[in-house]
Amino acid sequence: GRPVTLSTLAEKKALGEPLVMVTAYDYPSARVAEAAGVDLVLVGDSAAMTVLGYESTVPVSLDEMLMLAAAVRRGLRTPLLVGDLPFGSYERSNEQAVATAQRFVKEAGCDAVKLERGGPSVERARAIVDAGIPVMGHVGLTPQTATALGGYRSQGRTAEQALAVLRDAIELERAGCFAIVLEAIPRELTIEIVKRVSVPTIGIGAGPDTAGQVLVFHDLLGLFEGHTPRFVKRYANLREQMVAAVRRFCEEVRGRAYPADEHCYEMAPDESARLQA
Ligand code: KIV
Ligand code: NA
Repeated sequence: GRPVTLSTLAEKKALGEPLVMVTAYDYPSARVAEAAGVDLVLVGDSAAMTVLGYESTVPVSLDEMLMLAAAVRRGLRTPLLVGDLPFGSYERSNEQAVATAQRFVKEAGCDAVKLERGGPSVERARAIVDAGIPVMGHVGLTPQTATALGGYRSQGRTAEQALAVLRDAIELERAGCFAIVLEAIPRELTIEIVKRVSVPTIGIGAGPDTAGQVLVFHDLLGLFEGHTPRFVKRYANLREQMVAAVRRFCEEVRGRAYPADEHCYEMAPDESARLQA
């Protein structure tokens, strides 16, 4: 299909067509997202946990994210590509935020970037938008600052906290964000945000009322061993299949069943005869 643009997303939202986003972190996952026909691909800093083995999203570096994003870019033609600004790469100043966002665009070929939280991030989002780079917001459970939020738990469950999340979403829209991720919030709060914000909202653990949904690639495919939150639906259990396949390879090598004749190269008979002479 034709490359997805910001106008495509706004049009789909206006038509009431749900938007689909998945994360991807390398060339094969990008090829899968492309073939499946998603609207947006996020090179999430969830890569820290899903592919780099860190305990949280906090340690992943900008260079690590850029390497993954560039690999995704090489596998992607149609969906809009969003790069997730990692913890520590945008908070310090508007200049730092713009410089980091520019690296995602110039070095990794991203179409847009995403950053977490309202508050101080609102001004960073505005600065990046002013520099000509589309920005996606992210409110509710924001994993980069989960410690300050009291851990990986749903947010906005009291009226006061809910109003704070709503305010963040409104401010991010005013700052020029083209879409906002809502993570792990009660459905009632999602409905309020959707009423008050006109850009597409993309939910993860925010219920069915958002303009779109996002899941982490490794979660939806069953490729992640660790804890998965209640909002995750597993559409496959690929880890099991992968372990079984590699286990069969082990057995066949040890049992001398692999390689078989069809996996072997051969010389022409006359060359073979000369070799043995
Ligand atoms: O890093 C990530 O995968 C994300 C999505 C869950 C929105 O931020
Ligand atoms: Na993220």
